[in-house]
Amino acid sequence: MIGSEVCCFFHELGFEIHGVDNNQRAQFFGPQGDTRWNQRRLQSTLAHFHHHELDIRNRHGTLDLLAELKPSAIVHTAAQPSHDKAAVIPFDDFDTNAGGTLNMLEAVRRACPESPFVHMSTNKVYGDAPNNIPLVELATRWDYADPAYANGIAETFTIDQSKHSLFGASKVAGDVMVQEYGRYFGIPTCCLRGGCLTGPNHSGVELHGFLSFLIKCNLEDREYKVYGYKGKQVRDNIAAHDVARFIHAFIEKPRIAQVYNLGGGKQNSCSILEAFALVEKLTGKKQRHSYVDENRIGDHICYYSDLRKMREHYPSWDISVDLPTLFAQIVTGWKQRRSA
Ligand SMILES: NC(=O)c1ccc[n+]([C@@H]2O[C@H](COP(=O)([O-])OP(=O)(O)OC[C@H]3O[C@@H](n4cnc5c(N)ncnc54)[C@H](O)[C@@H]3O)[C@@H](O)[C@H]2O)c1
Repeated sequence: MIGSEVCCFFHELGFEIHGVDNNQRAQFFGPQGDTRWNQRRLQSTLAHFHHHELDIRNRHGTLDLLAELKPSAIVHTAAQPSHDKAAVIPFDDFDTNAGGTLNMLEAVRRACPESPFVHMSTNKVYGDAPNNIPLVELATRWDYADPAYANGIAETFTIDQSKHSLFGASKVAGDVMVQEYGRYFGIPTCCLRGGCLTGPNHSGVELHGFLSFLIKCNLEDREYKVYGYKGKQVRDNIAAHDVARFIHAFIEKPRIAQVYNLGGGKQNSCSILEAFALVEKLTGKKQRHSYVDENRIGDHICYYSDLRKMREHYPSWDISVDLPTLFAQIVTGWKQRRSA
């Protein structure tokens, strides 16, 4: 999802694009997670796009490809992205998120150490530690009771001694390695610790991409399962387009070994209950749902990103797609895919 957005964004700016993907998402999530349609879309619409069918766990393949291409910028978005799935496939998860990231980093160090390297990390590197912040229960959502978090979670928050899920732990390994290749070797790297990144091209499934999946369920009259926290759990949502815009800002003026919490911030946050209301307003269809008492292991009760560091380092960047617009884009995206 993010990879394809980045391809389109940079293609529009005149870049030659090399995309690496082996449709591993279909292995992880079955046919619902298949991303070949998106690959075909890129191949048929972007004249300067080249697809490489490569598994980034393939060390020699990755080293060889980057040695040949010597890209002027690298945006690493491949991952096993689901918390729950990771516990079922721990080797595949770690080999992809930690090992695959190391392969990419070392390939860059050998082939093009001057090139900016942007890594998609995740807010799960903070584990469930954000759940220790005192909360206040409002009518439709949880919120932080401690004024120190009025702007959300900043990059200084602890990543240590909390429950991450195996996914969060493998992403910590990748995240720290990306920082290290920056600090140790002087490569201009950054980790973007994502909140909920989404958009019309998201192949949302139950285990990953909650907003995309929730909207799909509404459109198809399918039941959406809410796991715990009274449906008041809060996520901050950012359009893939705004992610690509930030990546561009970083590549234009790269820094070394940076970390940013990249989400929609408080302004683009919503709880599951609020998401139901928003989608119902757009589609006119009641959201069918059921409730499971037990929350997902390590799931955040309330999380939204503090965007102040991003805004300070890159003042020309800010959120450009607000929450209602993002919902509308996802509704349209699913409708278009269904009629294609
Ligand atoms: N979407 C979110 O809400 C979110 C939130 C936080 C962080 N992130 C991170 O952002 C990145 C992109 O997420 P996304 O939502 O675009 O996920 P995605 O699943 O849509 O995209 C990941 C792509 O990587 C490919 N891939 C997986 N393993 C691979 C391998 N071994 N070799 C080659 N390709 C492989 C998959 O086929 C898929 O197309 C990931 O690192 C993810 O952890 C996403």
